[in-house]
Amino acid sequence: MSLLTQAPKGTQDLLPKDSFRWQVVEEVLRNEAASYGFGEIRTPVFEHTELFQRSVGETTDVVQKEMYTFLDKGNRSITLRPEGTAGAVRALLEHALYNDGLPVKTYYLTSCYRYENTQKGRLREFHQFGAEVFGAAAPSADAELIALAHDIFERLGIENLSLELNSIGCPECRATYHTALKEYFAGHKEQLCGTCLNRLDRNPMRILDCKNPKCAEIADHAPRMKDYLCDDCRQHFDSVKKYLDSAGIAYSVNPMIVRGLDYYTRTVFEFVSSDLGAQSTVCGGGRYDGLVKEMGGPQTAGLGFAIGLERLMMILEAQGIQMPPQPACEVYVASLGEAAQEKAFQLVHEMRQASIISECDICARSLKAQMKYADKIGAQFTLVLGDDELANQTAQLKHMKTGEKFAVSLGKDFLRDYVSVHSHLEETTLNVDGTFTNLDVFMNTDSEIFTEKN
Ligand code: HAM
Repeated sequence: MSLLTQAPKGTQDLLPKDSFRWQVVEEVLRNEAASYGFGEIRTPVFEHTELFQRSVGETTDVVQKEMYTFLDKGNRSITLRPEGTAGAVRALLEHALYNDGLPVKTYYLTSCYRYENTQKGRLREFHQFGAEVFGAAAPSADAELIALAHDIFERLGIENLSLELNSIGCPECRATYHTALKEYFAGHKEQLCGTCLNRLDRNPMRILDCKNPKCAEIADHAPRMKDYLCDDCRQHFDSVKKYLDSAGIAYSVNPMIVRGLDYYTRTVFEFVSSDLGAQSTVCGGGRYDGLVKEMGGPQTAGLGFAIGLERLMMILEAQGIQMPPQPACEVYVASLGEAAQEKAFQLVHEMRQASIISECDICARSLKAQMKYADKIGAQFTLVLGDDELANQTAQLKHMKTGEKFAVSLGKDFLRDYVSVHSHLEETTLNVDGTFTNLDVFMNTDSEIFTEKN
């Protein structure tokens, strides 16, 4: 493997031909979060290692095996963020955001880093869209958060996702449940895998979501948290379900959803897709009412979720969901000779100031090569400038698809002439094939936009 020409294992480049699709999806995520009253938070890509040890939890796979941790030149232990919740909580405390009025609703779009065994949908650098709410203890907050994730998927036109829901109780009722689980699994010690044997003492609930078939079979008959929920936790969970019912959001209660991070309390949930293969969870989240206090802040309820963006893009692709194409070059101004080249540069500058996507030669190429390039980038119009055009202060704007030509002034009326040709064509041929469809239309309307043919 060449260290100079190959990216590190588990990382991916996002190339210009693909990045536009990401931008469209990110825009939908931002708009949806804004409509729920969430504001963006950006936290550092690295934090003190202790932050993740304390929040994500010492017994988790993330902390035990997967963190990118190193000593900086000041001998501090630093870790690249493996997830977004810890940084958001740290920022909440550092800036005392809870004094600004509760609830505090934040969202983020970030890269995360986990040293994992890579496979389809499991990377070492990946991206999350996350939402975190602080200071909202009521069940309606759980339902609102789940509705946000649900609406995002719906807005993108995604189908066949299942929402799996569970309650893992509060520290009090969970302690009783842990005892029951330990007793149960201790009776099957010889059949558990090595990882689950380790989990038995420290975090027996994680045995419930072990993928090893033998462990799964044993877990199938294990005691269920629902039978150990205290009255408050049971009422909370029932109420969350009622809110979801009233919003028409379908879910199934899955007692095996326990989540891999330590901070969760009460409601936990995952959105699972059959289009993803083994790594089928596209979104995971839940409530973490003890975390802010655990990190040294005042008792403050918390809850959130994160959607893995690579997995989200995989689903969009697998379901054949159409996305708007990247806007192509509208006008390519080709030129022959130095004076014409300068004029081309000036016209393109003028068009760009009017937000018209336009290009001219910057490689000192022949006219033929320029036209070939214009064709390659799919320019809708070309304008060829030479000595005659400069002398007459007029040139022919050619519509590449139909071959139609229109005379345009090269003087102060250039933009006016261009716009009138453009609007004339828009009324006639262009709208038919959608070539001039405005991106804003895609961004601001409903999910049908993604299925519309372009
Ligand atoms: P998580 O379940 O660890 O939760 O990750 C959330 C989502 O990130 C997963 O459902 C998946 O789509 C994506 N993801 C995780 N690991 C990888 C990976 N190695 N490669 C690709 N995608 C991945 C959290 O991170 C919590 N912080 C979520 C949360 C926010 N809970 C409360 N607030």
